Amino acid sequence: MEEAPERDESLPGRAESYWMATSPETGFPPLDGDGRVDVTVIGGGIAGITTAFLLKKARLTVALIDAYRIVTGATGHTTAKVTVLHRLIYADLIDRFGGRLARQYAAANRAGVETVASLVREYDIPCSFERKPAYTYAESEEEREKVMAEVDAARHLGLPAAFTEDVPLPGESHGAVVLEGQAQFHPRNYLLLLAGHLPGEGSYVFEMTRAVGIEERADGVAVKTDRGTLHSGHAVLATHYPIYDRPGAYYARMQPSRSYALGVRIDEPFPNGIFINASDPVHSWRSQPAADGDLVIVTGAAHGTGQVTDTRAHYRDLEAYARSVYPVRSVDYHWSAQDYITADRVPYIGRLAGGHDRIYVATGFCKWGMAAGTAAGMILTDLIRGRENPWAEVFDPSRFREQPEFPDRVQKKIEAAGGAIEVDAAGFDREVAAIPPGEGKVVEVGGQRVAVFRDDRGGVRPLDPTCMHMGCTVAWNNAEKSWDCPCHGSRYAADGRVIESPTVRNLRRKEVVRR
Ligand code: FES
Repeated sequence: MEEAPERDESLPGRAESYWMATSPETGFPPLDGDGRVDVTVIGGGIAGITTAFLLKKARLTVALIDAYRIVTGATGHTTAKVTVLHRLIYADLIDRFGGRLARQYAAANRAGVETVASLVREYDIPCSFERKPAYTYAESEEEREKVMAEVDAARHLGLPAAFTEDVPLPGESHGAVVLEGQAQFHPRNYLLLLAGHLPGEGSYVFEMTRAVGIEERADGVAVKTDRGTLHSGHAVLATHYPIYDRPGAYYARMQPSRSYALGVRIDEPFPNGIFINASDPVHSWRSQPAADGDLVIVTGAAHGTGQVTDTRAHYRDLEAYARSVYPVRSVDYHWSAQDYITADRVPYIGRLAGGHDRIYVATGFCKWGMAAGTAAGMILTDLIRGRENPWAEVFDPSRFREQPEFPDRVQKKIEAAGGAIEVDAAGFDREVAAIPPGEGKVVEVGGQRVAVFRDDRGGVRPLDPTCMHMGCTVAWNNAEKSWDCPCHGSRYAADGRVIESPTVRNLRRKEVVRR
């Protein structure tokens, strides 16, 4: 559910993900009035599309809706590594959950990888799907121990992991855990083909259709959108962060994180594999075959959403890092992605917490959404069809028992957002004059905060910086030209329009009365 905001063209390369730049745009119609299907799926990323696709394959009718265009959010900005090796996780999962549940996590992700492979084969999907060994490599002797422990843990859970001294990236090797038979692909080319199979026989894809509310009743679910209401037996929230969150309170259990990617050309062949380091800061590498030679995708420089204003510096840091490893001939693309990190590093997949029978959720993929997002489709399809699923337990969204209440004061703060503020004209003008054209800042005037964006002609758009999801204060993101919320990752364009959920409401205008 992400619309491309204005981009900063001052950074090197095209300001667009490689996947977006090299795949067709979609043009599914918006919903027009009310409708009825077996299942409504909200969110057109890998979890939503896979769920809808598998449900339709099982002869249920589905409506997949997206607030903007499908596969333009996290899935359109991923590195698209389809793997069971999630950096270092298995030793931790065994400690946290025990072997039985950790094995479910591994098996679900393995099934996710193999399902992608079999759908690519069955539907002959031209998405440059390639099997690759996945590596998590140590950069010090201390990490070598952790990597070796991960090999043991993964093998204990039935994964054919091995330790290798031979890490085919430049620099001194301290060894790696390697898992053969993982994969990479072009996520949009894969998912747009699956989505193309959805419309027909009572099923639909509706783009530019924003879900604004859900009502669950004994006999079904009504998903209210800005274009009409969809009635169905079940609804799936695959919106990255659930737009419906009371009293399940996911807000208390997931942190949004932004990370950065560059598509670069290097002057030597890139080794066979997909790579991530074991230490912080996290960096990952893979290559992507392209018509004009391999593009190398390097990621890193992550931070909590809304906690950094000078996001351009993160692209520059990443470029400096890439150049420290490889001779980079050119930076051809730059983009960023937002992911949600759960409290225990395991996604929430299953019935929405808080006693819901007919509303399901798939979120919190902790940056590993390709295999797990596919597994989510398999799990939710089983649950909706009333079938047992062998991996559902570890992902159960109700695994945290406490259910924080949605505080009244938050609702009041949101209701009070906007309105007028009387300011000392000279002080306000001084603050605004310090903002360069094309930039934004939350300024403090008269004891109140105003989010001010100055357009390229110097015009000023004052907004209330109160996030309309749950009342946190947004911060300016100078690389993406957006207002980002540090609490749960809602994002707004410079003019206050929603570009990323969980919020479904735009920032309120603030009328500035000068005195
Ligand atoms: Fe939840 Fe802003 S995203 S308060």
